[in-house]
Amino acid sequence: MERTAIIFLGPPGAGKGTQAARLSQELGFKKLSTGDILRDHVARMTPLGQVAKPIMERGDLVPDDLILALIKEELSDRVVFDGFPRTLAQAEALDRLLEETGTRLLGVVLVEVPEEELLRRLLRRAGLEGRSDDNEETIRRRLEVYRTQTAPLVEYYEKRGVLKRIDGTGTPEEVYARIKGALGV
Ligand code: AP5
Repeated sequence: MERTAIIFLGPPGAGKGTQAARLSQELGFKKLSTGDILRDHVARMTPLGQVAKPIMERGDLVPDDLILALIKEELSDRVVFDGFPRTLAQAEALDRLLEETGTRLLGVVLVEVPEEELLRRLLRRAGLEGRSDDNEETIRRRLEVYRTQTAPLVEYYEKRGVLKRIDGTGTPEEVYARIKGALGV
């Protein structure tokens, strides 16, 4: 079986996790969410969790070397990446890893949503779930980190012809249909 990967890219609150979960389930791929893995480490207070907790509460990024070690541990033959890569260094390391393992990148799904809507969604989730980084100050920092450190990946993948821009507004079902259409799956 051919080894394949899909990447979900987009700002906090764009719906990456929601859509990646659905797509991975339907295609029988593993969903690899660095945010979920880190939150699990924080909940268990592992050494990684202790390092990651204050960084995540500020809305900054966990160092690349720690993230890359996680990815190597969790990589699978058919994988949907949610929230990874997030820096140019992570993207370059992933390229090497995909090449070494003979994994084909099926596409990079960029989920786009206006900033006011992102803020609305995340503040609503703060009320419902109480995620510790869903407060207004941290959300604004996460958005700024996205703009400065992650947004350059859009051009990186666009140049390689693998970027699929998706309008992330509307219902989750509408967004999902757009993603499937763009990926041709
Ligand atoms: P991570 O967990 O990846 O958080 P994030 O990127 O901020 O993304 P979110 O989970 O908030 O949003 P999402 O786009 O997945 O949207 P979701 O589907 O949840 O990262 C958290 C932290 O971990 C980072 O800040 C960093 O510190 C660290 N980290 C993680 N990965 C890292 C990496 N690679 N390198 C370094 N550090 C890393 O939806 C959001 C809300 O909107 C939900 O309530 C959902 O129900 C709702 N929603 C979804 N779709 C719709 C829709 N169509 N209409 C209305 N509401 C919707």
